[in-house]
Amino acid sequence: MKSARILGSLLSLSLLIVPTVMAAQKDSPAKEAKEGSSIFESKCFACHGKDAKGQTAMGKTLKIRDLHSAEVQKQTKEELTKIIEDGKGKMPAYKGKLSKDQINDLVDYIKSLK
Ligand code: HEC
Repeated sequence: MKSARILGSLLSLSLLIVPTVMAAQKDSPAKEAKEGSSIFESKCFACHGKDAKGQTAMGKTLKIRDLHSAEVQKQTKEELTKIIEDGKGKMPAYKGKLSKDQINDLVDYIKSLK
């Protein structure tokens, strides 16, 4: 019963990992997404719009993609984090202006839009 043993060790491994991940996150993704949404509405709306669709004067001029779109959503959390931290084209960099937690909340918020 080799596969049962592999399954068993996978199970115990996930029992180890899950509480660690939960402890590291502390807030639920839904709560983080909600916090992200209020940061978004205060820091990002000028270009991306409060609904994140990019339908602002700035958004249209700069051709900002709708953050709900598949092209944006197919990017990983890591990729989105990097764009917010380092900027991209006319998108300003937020590293140092927002905390790592705030950027994580924003990424959770963006991911919750799909
Ligand atoms: C000054 C206007 C401006 C502000 C303010 C701004 N952005 Fe952007 N953002 C842009 C532009 C322009 C792009 C498109 C960059 C490109 O693709 O060249 C962009 C792209 C992005 C992308 C990548 C979307 C894609 O097409 O893949 C993310 C994610 C993003 N912004 C998040 C944020 C967040 C979160 C904030 C607030 C903390 C924010 N932006 C504030 C202008 C802005």
